[in-house]
Amino acid sequence: MASLTITPRGPLKGTITVPGDKSITHRAIILSSLAEGESTIAAYCRGEDCLNTMRAFQTMGIQIDERPDQLRVCGKGLWGLTEPAQPIDCGNSGTGIRLLAGVLAGQDFFTILTGDDSIRRRPMGRVVKPLREMGATLAGRKGGELAPLAITGSRLRGLDYQSPVASAQIKSSLLLAGLYAEGITRVREPRASRDHTERMFRHFGIPMQEDATSVSIQGRPSLGWQGKSMVVPGDLSAAAFFIVGALLVEGSDVTITNVGVNPTRTGILDVLIEMGAKIDVLNRREEAGEPVADLRVRPSALRGITIGPDRIPQTIDEFPILCVAASLAEGETVISGAAELRVKESDRIATMAAELKKVGAAISETKDGLIVQGLRGKNTRRLKGASCLSYGDHRVAMSMAIAALVAEGETTIQDTACIDTSFPEFDSVLSTLLGTR
Ligand code: S3P
Repeated sequence: MASLTITPRGPLKGTITVPGDKSITHRAIILSSLAEGESTIAAYCRGEDCLNTMRAFQTMGIQIDERPDQLRVCGKGLWGLTEPAQPIDCGNSGTGIRLLAGVLAGQDFFTILTGDDSIRRRPMGRVVKPLREMGATLAGRKGGELAPLAITGSRLRGLDYQSPVASAQIKSSLLLAGLYAEGITRVREPRASRDHTERMFRHFGIPMQEDATSVSIQGRPSLGWQGKSMVVPGDLSAAAFFIVGALLVEGSDVTITNVGVNPTRTGILDVLIEMGAKIDVLNRREEAGEPVADLRVRPSALRGITIGPDRIPQTIDEFPILCVAASLAEGETVISGAAELRVKESDRIATMAAELKKVGAAISETKDGLIVQGLRGKNTRRLKGASCLSYGDHRVAMSMAIAALVAEGETTIQDTACIDTSFPEFDSVLSTLLGTR
């Protein structure tokens, strides 16, 4: 089992790029596979999660050529998929399994979706229940609450669904199923979740109706859509580790180019800037319907902050690294309304509290969030190196690697192979910034 050992080594300096956005890459593969003809997806995320989605479509008869710089996908249209002979392995990816469940519910063949230990513990009822309301035939462990999921393709009907949680995975799963349904499918959310599916639909010319917290589509579009070329923006969720690293390590100066700055994702920038971070957002532009910018980050004295339910969806994947920043801020940070963190790749409320305590942070769990007493201030203390666990969660592993940069002594993080699910180049990008490569 791989591990990472880190000793503080001075400032992070340089200009880097990060992998293509994971959420956008999943959607680009799905909609290109269902398009008519060729699409190219440049700067895609080569993490295992997205490669598993790519392999899923390959086993359903879609030709996808994997080149280092781009994927070439030969779509066969909305009804062009064929039955895979084997169960589909989604690995560690919640997005992969839930979005695929939506696509597969309306096919005229049988599939099984499964994944690793973590994915087989995560809640699937949140998509299984509304998909069943659309007429889908899905079975799974615990009445369909847990994967593996067995899907017998069925004739679907549109649904007007009020989702109990703001989740782009639920919304996207139902919109994809809605493409195969008779009539209109509408998804309403308590708060807006990330809108990459809607933007990708628009990019392919798939008609939709939207307002702030709801989206609807007409099923069975008679014309389908043509393949497209697209360039995937860099993943802000991957950039976030180096943003926080550069803020915390004295003398740093890091520029990250081509980063996606979709407003449904930029909670981390808003929160850090409110905490006192010096982050310049430069060269704003657009790629494939997604806003993109370059980010320059320099060390800053951070202050604690209060983050309530309103700001959770747009910051959802960045709480592990935000807890690292909060641990080294001045004063208290309170995060509430974030119970969704308990059903991510690990229970991130429990795992981040446990691991940050090991390196000397003052952090405690609440039912739906965390309270962090920052160490900066009158009695400034540093973190101290320790032996940490990842719990197989890529974002916990990378967050603890950044914490290690400002800890006294050596930190070892066990079981870091999981980093490959989203950011296989993490270690080498970090070495580049530290000048040790
Ligand atoms: C994702 C949505 C989020 C996020 C996940 C990726 C997506 O999950 O945590 O990493 O690509 O749709 P929820 O929508 O369930 O919060």
